[in-house]
Amino acid sequence: MLEGKFVVLGVTGSIAAYKSAELVRLLKKQGALVQVIMTESACEFIKPLTFQVLSQNQVITDMFREPSKWEVEHVALADRADLVLIAPATANIIAKIAAGIADDMLTTTILATRAKVVVVPAMNVHMYEHPITQRNIQRLKESGIEVMKPAEGFLACGYTGKGRFPEPADIVKFVDSIVGRAQDLKGKTVLITAGPTREPVDPVRFISNHSSGKMGYALARQAVLRGARVVLISGPTSIDPPAGLYKFIPVETALEMEKAVLENFTQAHVVIKAAAVADFRPKNYNPGKIKKQGGGMVIELVKNPDILQELGEKKQHQVLVGFAAETDEPEKNAKEKLERKNLDFIVLNDVTQEGAGFGSDTNIVKIIYRDGRTEILPKMLKRDVADAILDRVLPYLN
Ligand SMILES: Cc1cc2nc3c(=O)[nH]c(=O)nc-3n(C[C@H](O)[C@H](O)[C@H](O)COP(=O)(O)O)c2cc1C
Repeated sequence: MLEGKFVVLGVTGSIAAYKSAELVRLLKKQGALVQVIMTESACEFIKPLTFQVLSQNQVITDMFREPSKWEVEHVALADRADLVLIAPATANIIAKIAAGIADDMLTTTILATRAKVVVVPAMNVHMYEHPITQRNIQRLKESGIEVMKPAEGFLACGYTGKGRFPEPADIVKFVDSIVGRAQDLKGKTVLITAGPTREPVDPVRFISNHSSGKMGYALARQAVLRGARVVLISGPTSIDPPAGLYKFIPVETALEMEKAVLENFTQAHVVIKAAAVADFRPKNYNPGKIKKQGGGMVIELVKNPDILQELGEKKQHQVLVGFAAETDEPEKNAKEKLERKNLDFIVLNDVTQEGAGFGSDTNIVKIIYRDGRTEILPKMLKRDVADAILDRVLPYLN
């Protein structure tokens, strides 16, 4: 999928810089046009000549040197890029990007480009885990930059841990999944809900469920990569929201989720409700911590609003997709939900199956349509399940 794409590869001053020579070779093999920019420090680790030969292109090392063969100034390069890939990325370059510094050719290109930017960190484990580096990585993600997780293992500095430069072949796969995407959701607003809700009992206790948010976040990420404007409304999770969201709205309770969903419903073209919203909440919230008493205790529950049902009633042009996590008579229950809530299709998780449902990185789903058709998808990564769901949304949009 990288065939004909113009990739600007930024190489920075990491001991892993030599591994980028293999990365250039693999990118070229995929048919990409590669323009390497090296920082001054990178040139201490590997000679520009190596990249020049492998990329069959002049290597840029100095912003102020007279352009010889490479095309005009830094902005032209930034404009022409389909992707700016920084691999390896030092802690220093990550900090500079986070701060908006543009004091050399690479940082200037990063700031000037509208293309997707992918950063592949490589550094000592302590540098990587330092709260400042982590905060900088977070800032990059919030600005829509994709940051690949480094590998774990033996590091050149003698330590073992996170910070290792991933295998070049894995970097190419990661990049391919980002750049190679068809922009088939461009111009569409996709509203996705994810995670559990928490229904407070008192200041320290709540009722919730096992939803990890992984399925909803995977949907949000793939929709962003396919060009959609994504609004992600999420209950509490321990995972980072994907880069490039149009809006991220964190909520706690079903009532908060209902409010956020209704506020964003009208402008959405697609709504995918992957959140596991609690059906009930405690009738009374105790403002003080409930004391241990002798005997048992009864918490009276009241029904939460059925958000999906409300959307089904309000639905106009929107494509409406629901999820069902069932344990008993899953298909019968899912079909009933599909009809009652006026959905276009429903994604059924049988949460009792190994490798499906809550917390897992994979999912096994059935898709049930209004005309009675049922499609069974094999066990796949949640990322691929997300793409399969979005593929099935497309015909409803056209
Ligand atoms: C032998 C050696 C290896 C280094 N390896 C790394 C590394 O893997 N990651 C990193 O973030 N910094 C590493 N550094 C430090 C960077 O080279 C230094 O922060 C430099 O200023 C980075 O400049 P740049 O980001 O402009 O390329 C290393 C330094 C030396 C001397």
